Amino acid sequence: MSRERWNAVDAYTAELLIGADEALDHAVRSSAEAGLPPIAVSPNQGKLLYLLARMHGASSVLELGTLGGYSTIWLARALAHSGRLVTVELDPAYAEVAAANIQRAGLSSVVEQRVGPALDELLRLQAGGAGPFDMTFIDADKKGTPEYFEAALELSRPGSLIITDNVVRDGALIDPDTQDPGVLGMRRFQELLGADRRAGGRVSATTIQTVGSKGYDGFTLALVGG
Ligand code: SAH
Ligand code: DHB
Ligand code: MG
Repeated sequence: MSRERWNAVDAYTAELLIGADEALDHAVRSSAEAGLPPIAVSPNQGKLLYLLARMHGASSVLELGTLGGYSTIWLARALAHSGRLVTVELDPAYAEVAAANIQRAGLSSVVEQRVGPALDELLRLQAGGAGPFDMTFIDADKKGTPEYFEAALELSRPGSLIITDNVVRDGALIDPDTQDPGVLGMRRFQELLGADRRAGGRVSATTIQTVGSKGYDGFTLALVGG
């Protein structure tokens, strides 16, 4: 099956099930115009995050990796009344693009943006007594994922959901020769989850491979509390 077919099916289903969306479409356009890399989740993936947050009844969400705010908007829209979303981004210029997109989506009062390295911000959130978050979306640099996951666990409660993006990376996840630090980070993450399971399981997790307009990749879903 070709990538062209994945793209065409993604476009076909997204047009029917999602359609045009002023705030989201603008976020994609303004991000491209500002020179941000085109690596936000796809529309169908964004809606998956939105549906998971709704199914979970989430009222507090933590996101690592804001980029231009595309996934932020999807997640923030899913929050129950008086919900809060904290999103962390390393690059201040990206965070500015995101702020405008979040404002345009009418979500500025729901979203708290933090600018800095994810691990520093996670420790700061812990020190400040933040959380527990109902749901965390880990989507920052890939090599730090195992550390972000451990820190996210500290900011969770039994029943919290931790979702991690980009865990498969075109199948490189299982390439024994890869030197890519991001891929090695994702392999360390899967191995961490394996060790956790064998030790009795702080979390119950699954990894789902995805294809579509963002290529061949995947998500890991982890439910805290076994
Ligand atoms: N969640 C976004 C995409 C995020 S792309 C969406 O789907 O719409 C990954 C983001 O992580 C980039 O914006 C990148 O600047 C940011 N990032 C990279 N290293 C980081 C770090 N150490 N801490 C926080 N963010 C980081
Ligand atoms: C890439 C894709 C992502 O979804 C992301 O969060 C970071 C990087 C990429 O394809 O490089
Ligand atoms: Mg991603």
